[in-house]
Amino acid sequence: MGFPIRTAFTLLAAVAAVTITTPRLRADAGPKIKKLPFGKLADGTPIQLYVLTNKNGVQAAITNFGARLVSLKVPDKNGKLADVILGYSSVEGYEKDTAYFGAIAGRYANRIAKGRFTLDGVTYKLPINNGVNSLHGGTKGFDKLVWQARELTKSANPAVELTLTSPNGDQGYPGTLHVRVIYTLTDQNALRIQYWATTDKPTVINLTNHAYFNLDGQGNGDILDTVLMINADEYTPTDKTQIPTGEIVSVKGTPFDFLKPTPIGARINENNPQLKIAGGYDHNWVVNRDHKTGLVLAARAYSPKTGRVLTVYTTEPGIQFYSGNFLDGTLVGKGGKAYKYRYGFTLETQHYPDSPNHPNFPSTVLKPGQVYRQTTVFKFSAR
Ligand code: GLA
Repeated sequence: MGFPIRTAFTLLAAVAAVTITTPRLRADAGPKIKKLPFGKLADGTPIQLYVLTNKNGVQAAITNFGARLVSLKVPDKNGKLADVILGYSSVEGYEKDTAYFGAIAGRYANRIAKGRFTLDGVTYKLPINNGVNSLHGGTKGFDKLVWQARELTKSANPAVELTLTSPNGDQGYPGTLHVRVIYTLTDQNALRIQYWATTDKPTVINLTNHAYFNLDGQGNGDILDTVLMINADEYTPTDKTQIPTGEIVSVKGTPFDFLKPTPIGARINENNPQLKIAGGYDHNWVVNRDHKTGLVLAARAYSPKTGRVLTVYTTEPGIQFYSGNFLDGTLVGKGGKAYKYRYGFTLETQHYPDSPNHPNFPSTVLKPGQVYRQTTVFKFSAR
């Protein structure tokens, strides 16, 4: 009686062993990096695209123009790959882009009130490029610069390093800033973005990635049915010009409560003064932290249609969730797709907007001898 059962177990174990070892036997399996031409800037500068592929066939493409994430092909619940990032098929689109598609925003992601801040008694003036405020580093922020790129061939996972030197006074900011960003694609289908910066004079810094996601595939409809969780008990409300008032307010009983996963569209049109100011969601949430440093869960987005799940982990104290309220169909991207109203959302891990003017917010000051660091992980799965 016991014998056939044992045989069955042995067979099962053998099947399991084969299943486990099969991926290693595939001839062309394993991480890869490809460097491709990505068009030219108006001044003739050739720009490149770095395509990272992991062992599951998941692909992330990054360009050295603006250190931008151009595409990310991840599987749905049936294993079907789709590109979940809004963007353009060549650099010409990015040079004209006004939406910060996939960019590393800097030196200061999001807004600084009236383009002014004071550090050690000196007032610095920044370009005003968003109503009365300075947005995403100014008129020529890091999103519009050509970075130095290098394939990290010795890394266990496919990775590309981008570096930049922003001279003293660049866009009005003090200090020569050396910036380094590494994008790594892991075999767990996670895109890890690591940032470092140093300065030779006291300055302020706030870097983020401004990728727009659509978990049903870029250009495939709006994101209102996407179910979002934001791990935050509080957020920072803004004035009419989208500058934080300085208050840190509980999300309880408001449309800003995403502790329980909720479709983005469920409350977006409610008659809430904060939603009215931004024309939807475009706010900074205060990420709940159970430990002071290191990565914590910041947000999770799920598409009931395709089953794709995006989980965001970060070392940052804040996350800007923006529901694509300024998209209106005039920007046409990859595959001729027009990006209409709310066709993508961003989850920008960051320090709070306008921190240099709010002493009660976590500091964004960087001094000589210190190293600015941030890490964010965008992990993909399906269910
Ligand atoms: C950020 C801002 C938004 C908008 C987008 C780019 O998310 O908070 O208001 O400017 O960038 O369009």
